[in-house]
Amino acid sequence: MFPVDLSRPNLREMLNQFKDIARFDHSVSIPELGSLFRFDEGTALGQMQKGVAQIYDVPFAYLTTNGTTSLNVLALLSLTRPGDTVLCQRDSHVSVFAPMIQADLRPVYVEPVYDTDLGLSLGVTPEQLDQALKANPEVKAVFLTYPNYFGIATDIEACAQVVARQGTHLIIDAAHGAHFGFHPALPRPAQDTTAAIVTQSTHKTCSALNQGSLALFNDEQVIDRFYEMVNHLGLITTSFSYVILASVVMAVLQLYEQGGALLNQAIEVATEVRQQINQIEGLSCFGWEARRAGFVEFDPLRVTVDVSRLGLPGFAIEKMLVEEFKIYPEMGTLRNVLFLFTMADDHHSGQQVVMALTRIARRLPPLAPPQVLPVPPNPPQVLSPRPVFFHPQRRAVPVRESIGAISAETIACYPPGSAIIVAGERITPEVIAFLEEIQQRGGTLKGASDPQFKSIQIVGNTDREFR
Ligand SMILES: Cc1ncc(COP(=O)(O)O)c(C=O)c1O
Repeated sequence: MFPVDLSRPNLREMLNQFKDIARFDHSVSIPELGSLFRFDEGTALGQMQKGVAQIYDVPFAYLTTNGTTSLNVLALLSLTRPGDTVLCQRDSHVSVFAPMIQADLRPVYVEPVYDTDLGLSLGVTPEQLDQALKANPEVKAVFLTYPNYFGIATDIEACAQVVARQGTHLIIDAAHGAHFGFHPALPRPAQDTTAAIVTQSTHKTCSALNQGSLALFNDEQVIDRFYEMVNHLGLITTSFSYVILASVVMAVLQLYEQGGALLNQAIEVATEVRQQINQIEGLSCFGWEARRAGFVEFDPLRVTVDVSRLGLPGFAIEKMLVEEFKIYPEMGTLRNVLFLFTMADDHHSGQQVVMALTRIARRLPPLAPPQVLPVPPNPPQVLSPRPVFFHPQRRAVPVRESIGAISAETIACYPPGSAIIVAGERITPEVIAFLEEIQQRGGTLKGASDPQFKSIQIVGNTDREFR
């Protein structure tokens, strides 16, 4: 593990000061503790930033109470100028589209491998990345996600090398990977590559309070520009919560001091659950054996259960688990239910999941898996997101009448986990048919203004304008 001197009166002592604050957090500012708007090594916050950076073995760390969402936006804005082209994974978190609007960035995409056997998107391969960069040499920044929601991770080192060869900045959204590096069975940490900035949701896989996130910097030259963004763009609250900040540091300290043992227990629980679910008729869970292009590393704490042979979509099984068994999976998709095991889980919580799934599977006789929907090709891009967002003529039309128009909406769904249409792209018949089918099968269309998907917002007023 990384050399951190905890005997020095910095990290723990500073943390103790924050713990006291938690008792009377009545929204008061305590400038002496430090600020998110200026790095000051002499303050408790500055010391905590230094301690966290040491633990993650990077030159600099920025803590936030605004989640990885705001960090992704700040990271992209720090590495680009208005009008720049950004290469991002098509299945990026929605936060990637905010700087496209704010700074008029033009997105170009690299499509992660979609695996029809698993019904899931995998990672982007280095070869795909290389091709995408060669096809778009004007790209100023690359934005990758590692790992994806299902714990599937690409060869991030090889991907980072491809980006470095091109002389382009790399940002890695490791929202689901804050615990990597603290157990040998987990994928390699994103910050161990040449990525300029890595963002992480410490609140997701570790014990930080909700919204507690971290940006880890390998490229120190970006830090000043990053703080400029923090100071001028209004994305960080001036009433940040010292309690959330303290929780991020406590979570990182827990990882550092006890992560090996706690993660070991969680991995054992998840592995046992995976094996037992694979014994239940009608259910299956993939593991390391499913590795293939785009799936090189794997977070074993993510247990993805394929429920398709039960004759019901994953969304319906998720609902049963919540309503009947008070078990909250991380998410349901058309075909899968995803469980996320954490350092707080033990044998008992694992067995609750196995018991509930056994009961559900018993009363639903196994069937042949339903037909997997082909994911439509990406539609042609006509406008970039900003002109669409501020377009004076946006209106809702019935979805069937929208074909050929420019979408004013970005809509994503599981599967495949990617945006099926991005604002500024021309709506195709395949896109409408696919989204209608997902919606009819009980799926959620993320970003659709009409949850029933009867109408869609388009750009333009007359046929001539948009067709
Ligand atoms: C890949 C990815 N990036 C970023 C985020 C946003 O993180 P946060 O909730 O910390 O803002 C999420 C949220 O689920 C995510 O899945």
